[in-house]
Amino acid sequence: MANPAAETKLDPFAEWDDATLVLGIETSCDETSAAVVQGGRKILSNVIASQTDLHADYGGIVPEIAARAHIEALTPAIGVALLQADVTFWDIDAVAGTLGPGLVGCLLVGVAEAKSMAAVLDVPFVGVNHLEGHLYSAMLSDPPVQWPSLALIISGGHTMTVYVKDHGSYEMLGGTVDDAAGEAFDKVARFLGLDYPGGPEIDRLSLLGDPSAIRFPRAMSRDEGFDVSYSGLKTAVINHVRKMEASGAEVSVPDIAASFQQAAVEMQVGKTMAAAEHMGSERVLMCGGVAANSGLRSALATACEERSLPLYVPPIELCTDNAAMIAACGSAMLRAGNYTGLGASADPNLPLIR
Ligand code: KG4
Ligand code: ZN
Repeated sequence: MANPAAETKLDPFAEWDDATLVLGIETSCDETSAAVVQGGRKILSNVIASQTDLHADYGGIVPEIAARAHIEALTPAIGVALLQADVTFWDIDAVAGTLGPGLVGCLLVGVAEAKSMAAVLDVPFVGVNHLEGHLYSAMLSDPPVQWPSLALIISGGHTMTVYVKDHGSYEMLGGTVDDAAGEAFDKVARFLGLDYPGGPEIDRLSLLGDPSAIRFPRAMSRDEGFDVSYSGLKTAVINHVRKMEASGAEVSVPDIAASFQQAAVEMQVGKTMAAAEHMGSERVLMCGGVAANSGLRSALATACEERSLPLYVPPIELCTDNAAMIAACGSAMLRAGNYTGLGASADPNLPLIR
């Protein structure tokens, strides 16, 4: 089948330049986002409509509610993104949308709208891998990351350490063998009775507690590889609290939050630095929602400083899900000529490395 995008007005090989405007669309989970990015680097707008309030009563994301909320929020978000960028539909050179991984009903909403828009505007559609999008959030910060780089992608759905050799060229070094880091933060927070999403709550409470109050296990720290495990740590926290409650002892939630965060951070930073050393990487990048964590940011910064390695961590608003990173990644794909065309479809299990 002919690639429909090949017939559209932008020839990515010939016409790419720093003025190219890409509209990004992100609906893989519980943020509806639309952004306009110029030249792959300059954010003209990045509108994020969070659904947190809709899911808070359930203590987690309800996929059906999330998909419906995307349908309601996406078109207005695109309108606002264009307005804030001070451009019109007709100025857009390409549309980039998240193909996966993510919740299938949510992905379908964004992909359908992004492809329709590309077809109507007669511009290319670029289907972006959400995880690759997270990596490109570091291209939007100042200074932008360069490849090659060791990268830690740490979010609610994924925790992986990869070596990015170049655009689209990855070597998987390690990852979680069970829960993703954000999932563990959210589950521990829920057990402690904190609001959803729990990661930021644990982070906030950690500042009030003593990180050395309880010594939770640092799973897999003696293993040779670069994998981590969050499930054992989560269970250790739950068992500790149950034991304290059973004995009638007072449970300090800030101390537990701080001790849990400390164990998670030590484990993750240790494995990340070991992977960076193993690869002889000249720089380290951290991205994804959990990269917003203050303890992780400062511990990784210290570890990198000790080894004189530059660390690239995007500002917090670019760590959590957003469409600017999708537009940035889509721009790099366009520049490299590997855009997908309208034949691409949503894939909830889309892997980073095929
Ligand atoms: O990247 P993201 O927005 O969505 C996914 O692709 O998963 O990440 C969301 C995750 C949630 O688990 C949330 O609790 C966690 O990132 N998170 C944090 C913090 N801010 C967000 N975890 C720990 N500390 C934070 N400050
Ligand atoms: Zn994400």
